[in-house]
Amino acid sequence: KRLLPMTATLGLILAGCGREDLSVLRPQGPAAESSFDLMKLAITIMIVVLLIVFSIAAYVLIRFRRKPEQREIPEQVEGNFKLEVLWTVIPLILVVVLAVPTVRAVFAAGNDHSDDKNAIKVKVTGHQYWWEFEYTDYGVKTAQDLVIPAGKDIAFELSTADVLHSFWVPSLAGKMDTNPDGTINRFSFSAPNEGVYRGKCAELCGPSHGFMEFKVKSVSDAEFEQWLASMKSPAVLPEDPEIAAKFKSACLQCHAVGDQGIAMGPDLTGIGSRESVAGILLNDDTGVDGAPILDNLKTWLHDPQGVKPGNKMPDPKKDLGLTDEEIDGIAEYLAGYTLD
Ligand code: CUA
Repeated sequence: KRLLPMTATLGLILAGCGREDLSVLRPQGPAAESSFDLMKLAITIMIVVLLIVFSIAAYVLIRFRRKPEQREIPEQVEGNFKLEVLWTVIPLILVVVLAVPTVRAVFAAGNDHSDDKNAIKVKVTGHQYWWEFEYTDYGVKTAQDLVIPAGKDIAFELSTADVLHSFWVPSLAGKMDTNPDGTINRFSFSAPNEGVYRGKCAELCGPSHGFMEFKVKSVSDAEFEQWLASMKSPAVLPEDPEIAAKFKSACLQCHAVGDQGIAMGPDLTGIGSRESVAGILLNDDTGVDGAPILDNLKTWLHDPQGVKPGNKMPDPKKDLGLTDEEIDGIAEYLAGYTLD
């Protein structure tokens, strides 16, 4: 009777592994593939060991079980030099077989490519609860969507603005912490295929840790160049002068668009082209796997604490004194601020 709920629970848990864009089991690119190869090696060894041990155990249980007519205690054996050597040497060999590729992969993962002229350098800063990406060679800053050219090595430099976070894109590479003590962690990965990958914060960092998501958009070289150019083009401000004035006085005190405002909160340049609002409200025009961006922006701006409890954004209504109409106007402007 207990089997059914147990199987159902297990099924539910494993169902989470099915998401292609958030799975270590569907590695994309060399960094993730090397981790996956280690997993396969370790699991294969475990299965072989398990099969041998269980077969021997089963054989012994059946072959030497007590017969009904048997009354006397069987002969007692103590110690067997040959067997003891055998079961010490075999695990030693297994440990070596596991250790050599592991050490090699760990050192390869630490290879940060920061000296590589061809690598794209990205400074990643973790904030409660959003991600900042700065393309130091291009003078471009963005938030939440990390746009990278497919196949190129991306050399990351990780730090945090507040507490410990961990930068993790499961299908592209292992995770790497951002340290509050000022130490900078470096690593690199590349995404050979174009597409959108999900990233997560992998270190408990506060009430909205679970919502600290981001996206990695791997695009063609041409698209990447075009994206950089659009990011550097002059800021687009709301057409309606009243909304523009409110946007400047309320939003641009912490946010930036293009060359205007302050880069304290997430940069909003081209936010209309992003995959999500606040990293967690997925933009989907069909409304199947999320909601249209305008709806998401309204949801966010009308109640940021409801979406991400504990986030640092002042409430547009309560703290900044914006009216519902002004909030909707700003949401409409932001939704229309695309990069093409
Ligand atoms: Cu940032 Cu968890």
